[in-house]
Amino acid sequence: MKYSIIGATGAIGSTIVRQLAAEGKQVRALVRDAEKFYRLLPDILAEAVIGDALNPKDVRRAVAEVDVVFHCVNFPLTQYERTLEAAHVLVEAVLSEKPHVVFPGNTWVFGKPARLPITPETPFGPPSAIARLKAKVDEMLMNSGLPVTVVHLPDFYGPNVANPLMKPLFESALAGKNIFFPAPVNVPHQFIYIDDAARALIAVAGQEGCHGRRYTVGGVEPITVRRFAETIYQAAGTQGRVRGMPLWLLRLLGLFSAEARAGAGMMHTFAWDVSMDGTALQRDTGFMPQVGSVDGIARTLAWFHQSAS
Ligand SMILES: NC(=O)c1ccc[n+]([C@@H]2O[C@H](COP(=O)([O-])OP(=O)(O)OC[C@H]3O[C@@H](n4cnc5c(N)ncnc54)[C@H](OP(=O)(O)O)[C@@H]3O)[C@@H](O)[C@H]2O)c1
Repeated sequence: MKYSIIGATGAIGSTIVRQLAAEGKQVRALVRDAEKFYRLLPDILAEAVIGDALNPKDVRRAVAEVDVVFHCVNFPLTQYERTLEAAHVLVEAVLSEKPHVVFPGNTWVFGKPARLPITPETPFGPPSAIARLKAKVDEMLMNSGLPVTVVHLPDFYGPNVANPLMKPLFESALAGKNIFFPAPVNVPHQFIYIDDAARALIAVAGQEGCHGRRYTVGGVEPITVRRFAETIYQAAGTQGRVRGMPLWLLRLLGLFSAEARAGAGMMHTFAWDVSMDGTALQRDTGFMPQVGSVDGIARTLAWFHQSAS
């Protein structure tokens, strides 16, 4: 089986490449920056296609004659409409060959669910412009007539997860500085180690029984941001205070800045419980997360420590 990864220098994309290549699978990666790709993944046997996920010609080259495409491209929140554009480019590029498209969904799209835990049957209720965009991309792919599987993942952390939420948590703890998290910090939340997140996507890849299906990933013990951050301090051997921010204040700040507005559009997932159930995914693929938070945090700290030196 041949695999293509769009967005292969990103957190989830690079981890999928690493895992597939380690299994000796044939992997092609669409990347904008080949140097970054080989720096992130030295000693990895994978074909790199240099190009842009918004350029139809580049994407066609990246997905030609593959069996599975992992669509892992991501854009800054202030340019999030590009996720829809990139999804349209992908659909056009794969229409003739129809490989299995695997898409990492998230929890934003469910809004405040009437019942917990969230399952694949939970209706969407995106409460913000950014969450509505993510839902639109998801539904557009699912209704494209292609064999698509969406796997809704909790927020991930781990090596190369350097987004503006995760990076400061680890860097501040390593430096013994206080953590200011731009969302509530006392609500239980699921964080999944990046290797487990990638394994969840790989578990459905090429499985005909998973075509046209949506899965939620469970089996991750919810932990408050405060406790998660305290565990990072403990593992780093440092100390600091953890402070959060209520959702209403974030929304208020959003009135004054496009960046804050975009950020506030996804922070609802920290304001209430969005725990997911992974029974269907486990039943159909056997997938269960393997890395607990203590182990995952230690591995992540080691990566940030090494990246800083
Ligand atoms: N982060 C989470 O906790 C989380 C949780 C659940 C689901 N997800 C979903 O997982 C997906 C990937 O997220 P991520 O956090 O792995 O993203 P990420 O780390 O921000 O990586 C984004 C990737 O997209 C690439 N990219 C951006 N614009 C591009 C373009 N025009 N052409 C080609 N490549 C481009 C980036 O390349 P460069 O390296 O060149 O910038 C990078 O490889 C998203 O759909 C996200 O919603 C994320």
